[in-house]
Amino acid sequence: MIKKTLLFSLATLLLSLPQPLLTFQPSETLKIYHANTLPTTQLSWEQTLLQLQSNDNARLHYLSRLGSGRPVVPVAAGMTITHNPSYIVKARIGTPPQTLLMAVDTGNDAAWIPCTGCIGCSAAGFDSAKSSTFRTVPCDATQCSQVPSPSCGGATCSFNWSYGGSSFSANLVQDTVGLISNPITGYTFGCIQTANGTSLPPQGLLGLGRGPLSLTSQTSELYQSTFSYCLPNLKSANFTGSLKLGPQNQPQKINCTPLLRNARRSSLYYANLTAIKVGDRVLCIPPTAFAFDATTGGGTFFDSGTMFTSLVKPAYTAVRDELRRRMGNATVSSLGGFDTYGTTSCLGMAAAPDNVDAVVNVIGSFQQQNHRIVIDELNSRVCVSREACSKRVPRLASFTNAHN
Ligand SMILES: *[C@@H]1O[C@H](CO)[C@@H](O)[C@H](O)[C@H]1NC(C)=O
Ligand SMILES: *[C@@H]1O[C@H](CO)[C@@H](O)[C@H](O)[C@H]1NC(C)=O
Ligand SMILES: *[C@@H]1O[C@H](CO)[C@@H](O)[C@H](O)[C@H]1NC(C)=O
Ligand SMILES: *[C@@H]1O[C@H](CO)[C@@H](O)[C@H](O)[C@H]1NC(C)=O
Ligand SMILES: *[C@@H]1O[C@H](CO)[C@@H](O)[C@H](O)[C@H]1NC(C)=O
Repeated sequence: MIKKTLLFSLATLLLSLPQPLLTFQPSETLKIYHANTLPTTQLSWEQTLLQLQSNDNARLHYLSRLGSGRPVVPVAAGMTITHNPSYIVKARIGTPPQTLLMAVDTGNDAAWIPCTGCIGCSAAGFDSAKSSTFRTVPCDATQCSQVPSPSCGGATCSFNWSYGGSSFSANLVQDTVGLISNPITGYTFGCIQTANGTSLPPQGLLGLGRGPLSLTSQTSELYQSTFSYCLPNLKSANFTGSLKLGPQNQPQKINCTPLLRNARRSSLYYANLTAIKVGDRVLCIPPTAFAFDATTGGGTFFDSGTMFTSLVKPAYTAVRDELRRRMGNATVSSLGGFDTYGTTSCLGMAAAPDNVDAVVNVIGSFQQQNHRIVIDELNSRVCVSREACSKRVPRLASFTNAHN
């Protein structure tokens, strides 16, 4: 008996202009196009420096730091290390530094870590009593108004938050956070006191979103709200991925599309997805499936915290049906929310859940693996290129005929 094994991976995400965004390999190609073409001309390094050299002290401070090493933070897949489906960095918190393996998430703003004495946390976390630079944030501080529904029981600002199926209650605090050789002093984050549920990354999370308490915002003077990341393969144990901070050290020849801000979900990195192509065929999907809408939050965003790309029903159905057609009408069944083909193929994508809030397409981390995603707020654009950042890059797709 000949058994066909066909393994799809949507890992070849390419937002190149006018090139495709998502590609199936080797036999199937899924391309997602976006609308606007940006000139790929970039400022030279000298021009960039001149632009940055405006007269405020923070920027001079920033320039003075450029010589002191490249701000590159190694990134690893959490599955193999913290057993959490997230990507992690080593963060050194406090003075002297305590090392925590924090999840990085472009879909969240504030950072939060379990603190010693936390009830319900799965890991010991950060011992604030041992840090000489630790302080709590008072209720009247600006930062206290930047957390969701802050409360002020005592003098300390605190807030509740939910993540995945879990929730926690945290005090708002400040301490030094080291990601690279130059630590960030007075970084504001949540110190978790009580937690419920099992979906919190065990040693905390570092938000890379666009809100005021994100890493991007808290270091905007230093890094100009510009960063990029390359996520390694999920099974890649070592820190072979990277988070690069600041406009320097980013790829220069890279294809970009405008970065959009959606008022309804202002923390997220939106881009204008306009079509999906499988193989040579542009799928027939109503434009409403992609419509960017600041009132409903509709549109398409990149998210490192969502694993599988999620498309609105009409888009998802069109992709699934086209693949089904190409695979000789193999039996389609459903496995944990995924459509599978025959016995061994699985479309690593999901349809957005059926609820009113779901007019949104999410490009998840699985599809971003081994690509560099550049978030460039300075020039309001998001750029993508291939980059093999797994130790041993697994075959993105394989097609084998096996006899058994
Ligand atoms: C997205 O692209 C479509 C199709 O080209 C265009 O009509 C629309 O104005 C774009 N939306 C945004 C927000 O750029
Ligand atoms: C936050 O959670 C704690 C613990 O469950 C609870 O006591 C408190 O009332 C909550 N605060 C708000 C503002 O919801
Ligand atoms: C955790 O769950 C308990 C019991 O349901 C509840 O009383 C408490 O407020 C919850 N804490 C948080 C931080 O949500
Ligand atoms: C990770 O690094 C260690 C030490 O450098 C090495 O022994 C190990 O084989 C590496 N693991 C992978 C999966 O590359
Ligand atoms: C799948 O089924 C449809 C309708 O029955 C048929 O038109 C199409 O040719 C089939 N595709 C393949 C690859 O067999």
